[in-house]
Amino acid sequence: MLDAFGREIRYLRLSVTDRCNLRCRYCMPDEGVPPTAHDDLLRYEELLRVAKAAVSLGIDRFKVTGGEPLVRRGCVDFIRHLKALPGVRQVTLTTNGLLLPPLLDELCAAGLDGVNISLDTLDNAQYQRLTRRAHTADEVLCAVRLCAARLPTKVNAVLLPETAGQLIPLSELAQALPVDVRFIERMPLGTVQTGQTPTAAAALDRLRARWPRLKPVTEPRGNGPARYFHAPDLQGCLGLIDAVSHGFCDRCNRLRLTCTGLLKPCLCYEQGVELKPLLRGGADDAALQKAIREAILQKPAAHCFAQRKNITEHKSMNQIGG
Ligand code: GTP
Ligand code: 5AD
Ligand code: SF4
Repeated sequence: MLDAFGREIRYLRLSVTDRCNLRCRYCMPDEGVPPTAHDDLLRYEELLRVAKAAVSLGIDRFKVTGGEPLVRRGCVDFIRHLKALPGVRQVTLTTNGLLLPPLLDELCAAGLDGVNISLDTLDNAQYQRLTRRAHTADEVLCAVRLCAARLPTKVNAVLLPETAGQLIPLSELAQALPVDVRFIERMPLGTVQTGQTPTAAAALDRLRARWPRLKPVTEPRGNGPARYFHAPDLQGCLGLIDAVSHGFCDRCNRLRLTCTGLLKPCLCYEQGVELKPLLRGGADDAALQKAIREAILQKPAAHCFAQRKNITEHKSMNQIGG
């Protein structure tokens, strides 16, 4: 379906939980966030009903996110059911990778089409400082290796001042492995309201210095806002997500559903359509479709990260849904 600005909306991010086994500094506040009560979470059957209604409006690609989606029991079965819905073309997962290795066989059998794994640094001590937990970057790297052998895999690294020295080492993963490595501008959401952050443009200059034959990839790759680049000695691509500085909003194709059932037209504003009262109040499929249509028509032209005072979304990133 087209939104009010003529953009085709065909992608829905489904957050299955706001819980996470990490506490990344740019995502969660120091004191943590009170976890959502179990009853307030949409049940998997409810998520599947929303997905079915979304498919009837032309949405055929789904991203399963969190928090950390794999901490919610039953996530793999949910992915299997989601992928089996008639009309669903693609189901992908964004995860921190820690719980991935023992689930890989089942996820492949469930029909998962790809995995994005968050890894901001290869340095174990720095990883522990950034995530405020005892897990290591080596554990995540192990998951990246196993996953890359089975499924299309991307590494997501948020650009942070303290990880400037990691840009090239992380990029070299795309040389050693068939993975795309993408650098994301840190968005001023939730716990991150202030502070300078490195830009994607500056990162690209450094990547070009390291790979002088780096060229933009012209054919479409992925569903998201990333711009991709390739060089002859890379197995995967390097990608940049100018989440803050670049206006990719004119090509935005997505909605997001929080784990409590708020269907959000844009991650920068608190506005959205509450689906839980409909799902639990006996609404029929037509009413659900109408609510999704409403959220699509509410989509703003663009985010307002450049004018921070206009940001109305004050939830942390794990609550917004990655
Ligand atoms: P695929 O290419 O299909 O894997 O999708 P994706 O890149 O959108 O998925 P992922 O979950 O890995 O998101 C990566 C990053 O893209 C997120 O951390 C955000 O920074 C950014 N992003 C995703 N969706 C949006 C959006 O709607 N607006 C903005 N500004 N950034 C987004
Ligand atoms: N800005 C940009 N990316 C963020 N992520 C979490 N918080 C932010 C933020 N403030 C990233 C995670 C993950 C992806 C889903 O979102 O690192 O890779
Ligand atoms: Fe679309 Fe909003 Fe994301 Fe921009 S910030 S790409 S308008 S959802």
